[in-house]
Amino acid sequence: MSVTTSRKAQHIAAALDPAVVRRSGPGWPEIELFHEALPELDAEEVELSTDLLGWRLGAPLVVAGMTGGYDGATEINARLARAAERHGLAIGVGSQRTVLDDPSTTASYAVVRECAPTAPVIGNIGASQLIAQGDRPAVTPDDLRSLVDMVHADALAIHLNFLEEAVQPEGDSRTRGCAAAIARAVDALDVPVIVKETGAGMSRSTAARLRDLGVAALDVGGAGGTSFAIIERLRAEQQGDLPQVALGHVLGEWGIPTAAAVAASAGLGLPVIATGGVRSGLDAAKALVLGADVVGVARPLLLAALEGDDAVDTWITQFCLALRTVLLLTGAGSPAALKDKPYVAHGAIRDWLQTLGAVPR
Ligand SMILES: Cc1cc2nc3c(=O)[nH]c(=O)nc-3n(C[C@H](O)[C@H](O)[C@H](O)COP(=O)(O)O)c2cc1C
Repeated sequence: MSVTTSRKAQHIAAALDPAVVRRSGPGWPEIELFHEALPELDAEEVELSTDLLGWRLGAPLVVAGMTGGYDGATEINARLARAAERHGLAIGVGSQRTVLDDPSTTASYAVVRECAPTAPVIGNIGASQLIAQGDRPAVTPDDLRSLVDMVHADALAIHLNFLEEAVQPEGDSRTRGCAAAIARAVDALDVPVIVKETGAGMSRSTAARLRDLGVAALDVGGAGGTSFAIIERLRAEQQGDLPQVALGHVLGEWGIPTAAAVAASAGLGLPVIATGGVRSGLDAAKALVLGADVVGVARPLLLAALEGDDAVDTWITQFCLALRTVLLLTGAGSPAALKDKPYVAHGAIRDWLQTLGAVPR
């Protein structure tokens, strides 16, 4: 088993530990929506369907990319993909780097397209693989096209995970040149490129730079949900790598909270996906009020997928019920209509929003 293959299995095992959720949250409790006592809207009129990158989704929800690359991932991806197909959601696969090292793992990714023939599927590769790292060469434009073809992807997500790489015992240390490599990837591909953080968020200036590189959408991947600094710290503990364990303790809470990262990235002319600590339809509504177009959810859907198809269905149905109810109670008939609704921000998130110039309406 290659290092990347065993790492993907270890990530799933570590993600089950409740300790991987960052203590300082994504900011949703500090955002409050205005109750509309006279909504003049019937529940049946509330519309959840949403457009993203030309796709029509049944709800503003993306199954965030998580896994692939080892045997156990096949069934997890199959269950998530079947749910995406049933509910009309977009679905991401986990980093396809593994398959470049070990082509025998292709099926664990390809299963997503097999089980979700019509859902928008998002391929995935790390920005750090777009440049050379030590004696490992950069992935080529042909490699990128083969990753897209492997899952018949409708978009490719390039993930930014430099916090994770810093804490990971065998992590990549080079980042110089990634921006230019992202621009080359945009040019090389026929499908849109989404740049996605993975739990440390992004600032407005970074979001604007990514837009200028030609990226089609941003997934802010904010802090407040699953923390990869903590996941890699747990792996470092198993390997007895004490300096990396200590670093993981110091940086476990690092990052821009998702609520702030959404407000920072909104209004730049790109669709915004809010991932990182979204746990309910109410959290999603708050992300949409702050300017997100859709939300992404990873860990809760992983836990549900490990239980089975019914658990994934139940989670999504409950998410949609809460979102639908909040849309009614705010008088917003659709997810897009939430963008015009007022909100109150308290505490640290208010400070973030004021610093960003995104003061609450
Ligand atoms: C087990 C696991 C594996 C992940 N692997 C990837 C990955 O390969 N590529 C990626 O872009 N994001 C990956 N992520 C990050 C998620 O897409 C998401 O950004 C992050 O978990 C925050 O969302 P959450 O708080 O809903 O879990 C992974 C997340 C989990 C839980």
